[in-house]
Amino acid sequence: MKDLDNHNKLTTASGTPYAQNEDSKSVGSRGPLLLEDFILHEKMAHFNRERIPERVVHAKGSAAFGTFTVTHDITKYTKAKIFLEVGKKTDMLLRFSTVGGEKGSADTERDPRGFALKFYTEDGNWDLVGNNTPVFFVKDPKKFGDFIHTQKRDPYTNMKSATMMWDFWSLNPESLHQVAILMSDRGTPYGYRHMHGFSSHTFSFINSANERFYVKFHFLTKQGIKNFTDAEAVAMKSQDPDFAQRDLLDNIDAGNFPRWDMKIQVMTEAESRTYHINPFDLTKVWPHADYPLMEVGTIELNRNPDNYFQDVEQAAFAPAHVVDGIGFSPDKMLQGRILSYPDAQRYRLGANYEQIPVNRCPYFTNNYQRDGQMRVDGNGGKNPNYFPNSFDNITVDASYKEPAQELESNVAGWYDRNAEGENDHYTQPGNLFRLLVPEQQQHLISNIVGAMSGIDGPKRMEIINRQLCHWFRADPRLGMGIAQGLGIQIDPNMLQ
Ligand code: HEM
Repeated sequence: MKDLDNHNKLTTASGTPYAQNEDSKSVGSRGPLLLEDFILHEKMAHFNRERIPERVVHAKGSAAFGTFTVTHDITKYTKAKIFLEVGKKTDMLLRFSTVGGEKGSADTERDPRGFALKFYTEDGNWDLVGNNTPVFFVKDPKKFGDFIHTQKRDPYTNMKSATMMWDFWSLNPESLHQVAILMSDRGTPYGYRHMHGFSSHTFSFINSANERFYVKFHFLTKQGIKNFTDAEAVAMKSQDPDFAQRDLLDNIDAGNFPRWDMKIQVMTEAESRTYHINPFDLTKVWPHADYPLMEVGTIELNRNPDNYFQDVEQAAFAPAHVVDGIGFSPDKMLQGRILSYPDAQRYRLGANYEQIPVNRCPYFTNNYQRDGQMRVDGNGGKNPNYFPNSFDNITVDASYKEPAQELESNVAGWYDRNAEGENDHYTQPGNLFRLLVPEQQQHLISNIVGAMSGIDGPKRMEIINRQLCHWFRADPRLGMGIAQGLGIQIDPNMLQ
């Protein structure tokens, strides 16, 4: 008779109690092992399968659960249920990350930081997969893989390569704005609590009258901005490669819950057609003077996941996950990401990854997807597995349909993303430099000089000169400071 109340017995994965867990079955105390010790096999075999593919980018990360609370009424812009009324609370998950490093790399590297939010709303999970920067390096998704290769390891040396990075950036001046932010002190934030987050992309809002607005999301840290200097960040990489993970975990464990204010910039559809900056260009910001920040609510992180692998490694965020009242925009990068993330997650976690508890919608899901590896939710039971059918009452709700959208053109083609009118790569990074106080300007210059000093090989001067021209175009003082730091003679008349 088994004692079923006694749950403290060590068992195999199939529930058989272990009689022994430290010595393998052998022929004689000093003899070889027996093939029949299936517990040994199970332990070794499961261990061999512990690793899953790390994220192809943003592999190193930290996350916490929390709550989003609405503080201001924005229902004139969106009917999304999450914003339904002031005071409404929604459970959420926020994962921070670095971009280029592997899962075991230091989280104080100079790199943008990921800022990926999952809101568990009644209309499904809404994911906002942003960064701590309002812009990005490229403006067409076809360029993403090439760009990321330059941030990873050189195929020959297996090391990071400043030459690859600056070669790419110098050949793609659309990257200048983001590179300027990356090289500023904001490229080395003091952990994850002291930085802002951005949707970066433009999304759309749809209100209950079916009117569309364009929107950018901002998350302003209530802890205040705090950055490492370059030297401090470099030192921290060896002192504590998990500094940001530790800082987040310890603060939440101690009840010091980090918070961010969600704010939005809103543009009407009519304005989007005439605004002097392409509102769907991810390398540009919408100046706050034209589109001031409006308050929406606050997020608070207040619970560390009990198990990192379960809730963080297996978390799957996707820009495709929008909900009623929130839609996409024509931003080409966003359009590319709609496809890329679920595709990556089917590879990384398997076809049924949405059933993993951290990804599962806590309200309900209904569909006719069946089977596949690791199907663990009952697989629809006896219910019909096709649509339409005469047996169940599952329906499509047409009230969720977005209003029709008039597009700018009906001519398909490969348009030059940097054609006339789309090729000002310099004004906004120049403005950024001019906005910095002198000490920050000096840091920016010395960080760029330090990073560009790593360029080597036969194309060194070609790459340096090409990139220097971009810095000069952004601001002659910036260009001159960098040239001087690199020991390159420039005619001082260029400053006049
Ligand atoms: C076309 C451009 C892009 C492509 C194709 C792309 C692709 C990817 C892929 C495949 C992943 C791994 C997903 C996973 O395995 O779960 C990822 C992660 C991520 N990406 Fe992108 N990405 C792009 C641009 C961006 C931009 C512009 C941002 C920010 C504004 C961004 C922010 C992130 C973040 C935060 C993560 C980590 C999400 C997490 O914490 O799990 N990406 N990206």
